Amino acid sequence: MITDHTGLPVTAASQEAADAFDRTLVAYLRFGNDIGDLLKATYAQDSEMVLANVLRGYFMHMMGMRALVPKAQQSLEAAQRGADAATPREQLHVKALEAWCHLDLAGATAAWEQSIEDNPMDVLAVKMLHYTHFYMGDPVNVRDSVGRVWHAWEEREDLATYGYMLSMRAFGLEETGEYGKAESLGRAAVNLNESDAWAVHTVAHVCEMEDRRTDGLNWLESKGNHENWNNFRYHLCWHKALMLFEMERFDDVLALYDDGIFNPKSDEYLDLTNDISVLARLEIAGVDVGDRWAVLGEKAKGRVDDKLLAFVDAHFMLALGATDEDAASAYVTSIDAYADEHDDTYAHMAQMVGHELCAALAAYKAKDFDGCIDLLEPVRYHVGAIGGSNAQRDLFAQILIDATIRGERWTLARSLLSERTAEKPRNVRAWRQLNHVLKAIGDDKGAQRASIKGDVLEIV
Ligand SMILES: [Fe+2]
Repeated sequence: MITDHTGLPVTAASQEAADAFDRTLVAYLRFGNDIGDLLKATYAQDSEMVLANVLRGYFMHMMGMRALVPKAQQSLEAAQRGADAATPREQLHVKALEAWCHLDLAGATAAWEQSIEDNPMDVLAVKMLHYTHFYMGDPVNVRDSVGRVWHAWEEREDLATYGYMLSMRAFGLEETGEYGKAESLGRAAVNLNESDAWAVHTVAHVCEMEDRRTDGLNWLESKGNHENWNNFRYHLCWHKALMLFEMERFDDVLALYDDGIFNPKSDEYLDLTNDISVLARLEIAGVDVGDRWAVLGEKAKGRVDDKLLAFVDAHFMLALGATDEDAASAYVTSIDAYADEHDDTYAHMAQMVGHELCAALAAYKAKDFDGCIDLLEPVRYHVGAIGGSNAQRDLFAQILIDATIRGERWTLARSLLSERTAEKPRNVRAWRQLNHVLKAIGDDKGAQRASIKGDVLEIV
């Protein structure tokens, strides 16, 4: 019987083909820059392999570009040709890809969930659930989908994918606030495998959430750079930029943006969200970012019809708002129209909160701060539904605070900053902002207290 590295049966022309598929899967798990070559090598062993066609289809969807959906459909058709002779697990993957081709992420998620219930060693399904729960704004299931198979993985350190399972478990714990456990599992995963980008990344997230800037910078300096990683390395640099930003080392953030984060040739959505998110943060801090928005605005204009990931579109909205107010306002209208006319995952997310968030961001960039506050403040606790990480979505919390400051809505600013400093007592910038707001209100004592807190933290 042909099996994968965990012992699960695989439908393939040969064991060599199954092994080649495993190598591709591992490259995907470690964000390797050789995924494409390894997938080609798998096809060279078996051009009809169901799981290879499925994985190619998944990759097409994960690019988040509507122009690639027909290619995913071609992969689906190729996978379906072999589905009758495939295992029930492989058939569930074909079913997931079919749902995804209908832009139904919930349907795809249900198929992967069924697969991990039946086959806890199905690493591909676990990884896909990690993706889909993340972009459907469901961190509890990011955590628990890994937990649901852990009974089968607990003592499987012998498997090449064990460390990657550990890092997925760690990330789910981090996104649900269990920072201590997340950090120790993330570090354990890195100890097993230094090139596990997701594990390195998870520890960086813990440092970010706990406002441990120096720890985070040191960690990323020592572990955050492998030349065989793909574009995900830009995201690790983005994390470094967040640390520098909160230290108010804005020149260093700009230098890192130019040399380590922005890639003019890239159209990958994660890269673009990194870029947009850095520039937006810098502008909140009053830093002149020069003409850096222009190219991002052009790239965002080319993506306005994608409408696949609400999280990404909120970032595109900021790039449009920074460069072309009319285009930004047309984008808001088009998201609303899409939500009315469609019945897919994106439309549901747009109806839930995506449209209002984008409208708020357009208002913010147009300096209509009251408009931004009126739209964003009532839905701010629902913004998690657009997906992405807590660290990434913190940008929207910062934008709301900035709107209250620039709009001189001082008492609301005080409430939001009081909440932020209570939640993030080590956040220097939040204390500085609170100091500014309390001064504006005339609460000199409070302002002085906030100033001292910020100064002490800076020294520490
Ligand atoms: Fe991240």
